[in-house]
Amino acid sequence: MAIRIEGKVISGIIKDEVKKSVEELKNKGVEITLAVIQVGDDPASTVYVGNKKKACAYTGINSKAYNLPNDVTEQELLALIAELNGDDSVNGILVQLPLPKHISESRVIEAISPKKDVDGFHVQSAGALMTGEPGFLPCTPAGIIELIKRTGIDITGKECVVVGRSNIVGKPMAMLLLRENGTVTVCHSKTKDLRAVTNRADILVVAMGRPKFIDASYIKEGAVVIDVGIHRNENGKLCGDVDFDSAEPKAYAITPVPGGVGPMTIAMLMKNCVEAYKLQQTL
Ligand code: GUN
Repeated sequence: MAIRIEGKVISGIIKDEVKKSVEELKNKGVEITLAVIQVGDDPASTVYVGNKKKACAYTGINSKAYNLPNDVTEQELLALIAELNGDDSVNGILVQLPLPKHISESRVIEAISPKKDVDGFHVQSAGALMTGEPGFLPCTPAGIIELIKRTGIDITGKECVVVGRSNIVGKPMAMLLLRENGTVTVCHSKTKDLRAVTNRADILVVAMGRPKFIDASYIKEGAVVIDVGIHRNENGKLCGDVDFDSAEPKAYAITPVPGGVGPMTIAMLMKNCVEAYKLQQTL
């Protein structure tokens, strides 16, 4: 039977580590504050934002919530970001995505100070990841590296295959695996013979957004399988991009959905808020 990589447990350990760092900073008179901006009332975003606020409360990070109406103008949102950029009591700024169609996500992301970009979405953060400069790492791929390492798996020299090339997961995931000395291949919707490529993977990260697409036939015996997907099936049950029951017997280790990658994203966001304070001291 494969090792189940319990993101729920590992994220709890990371949140406790963050809590300890926050307490130590509090003892020195330092408070960490995250500004969380939500535009509109998309139900999924409301759940994610609620979970982020809860994690802040748990770790002792102050959260400042801004709920803007769906018809807020881009200019008004940019003005709020400018105000938060200039506010020394705010360490991190997070704008929950997606934004309404009339607002440019890239203009909004680029308006956030790179010193406060705790999501790691700013081009400067992406560039820093590419060149190895200090900067914020996007939370989901950084969380996946933690899951792999804390399961005792060494990435050095391994064949790593990433399925998906988004700016938020696939591309930064590939860079992080490369930084850990993996041999990295990135697959996408135009990849010829996906199955042949994924069958080479010692470490397979799937972020393709297609429910239960990856079954045992895509997996090499003894592979580490990381599932970034999250979908609700027709019975209301959550599932990933990997068909867990099919893949599990072939894997060495595998993440479940839910309770795998999902909880890591918020834990790494909390970690980035503490990193933000540290980075702000050096800049
Ligand atoms: N929407 C979906 N995932 C994310 C995330 O990680 N950060 C932000 N800001 N919005 C999201």
